[in-house]
Amino acid sequence: MDVLVFLGSPRKKGNSEALTEALLEGVRDEGGMPEIIRLCDLKISPCISCGGCDKTGKCVVEDDMTPLYEKIISTDKIILASPIFFYGITAQAKAFIDRTQALWNRKRLLQRKGEWVDNPERKGFFISVAATRGSKIFTGAILTMKYGYDAMGMQYAGEFLVSGPDKCGDMAKNEIKLAEAKEAGRNFILGLNAHVD
Ligand SMILES: Cc1cc2nc3c(=O)[nH]c(=O)nc-3n(C[C@H](O)[C@H](O)[C@H](O)COP(=O)(O)O)c2cc1C
Repeated sequence: MDVLVFLGSPRKKGNSEALTEALLEGVRDEGGMPEIIRLCDLKISPCISCGGCDKTGKCVVEDDMTPLYEKIISTDKIILASPIFFYGITAQAKAFIDRTQALWNRKRLLQRKGEWVDNPERKGFFISVAATRGSKIFTGAILTMKYGYDAMGMQYAGEFLVSGPDKCGDMAKNEIKLAEAKEAGRNFILGLNAHVD
């Protein structure tokens, strides 16, 4: 099973990436085949709210997001990992999510024509880390991801969140959380929803 994985941190080999790698071990154990896409290596401009996709469901902006639309539509399992930056996902991840507005319009137009079919196999998962432990530290990011996956025509399958890691390498030392993440990866592929703090 193909799994599309978006890394949202601009810090390579950082904490969210270490957590993602652990979760992907579980994904692979259950036959998932991840394709990892590092958003900071791509040029994805923010949505310019031009309304171009309103009538077509297609984005008029041509950049590195363009080929991702087809990939998103044709993949049943997506994982996005982002650290928390100012109580939300990173700018790179947010630009990506904002550009899924074209897919939200695509879905709306297909629904209007009676041609949209909900596919319960299509599921999105969110991975995040934050340095601090405030009770609402992940709230904004989770909402962004829930509605982002909805635009992609996917059910939100859950999240794996870790509070505390800050310096590069912190996450890699937390063996307990890495083992839990591996289990969450397995469960995601098996279709068992996970909500882990
Ligand atoms: C610009 C910026 C904003 C941040 N904002 C927050 C924040 O609002 N709350 C928090 O707990 N941590 C915040 N952090 C800390 C990161 O979430 C933390 O260092 C995380 O482990 C980074 O993950 P990464 O290595 O995958 O990039 C911020 C870090 C940066 C660079």
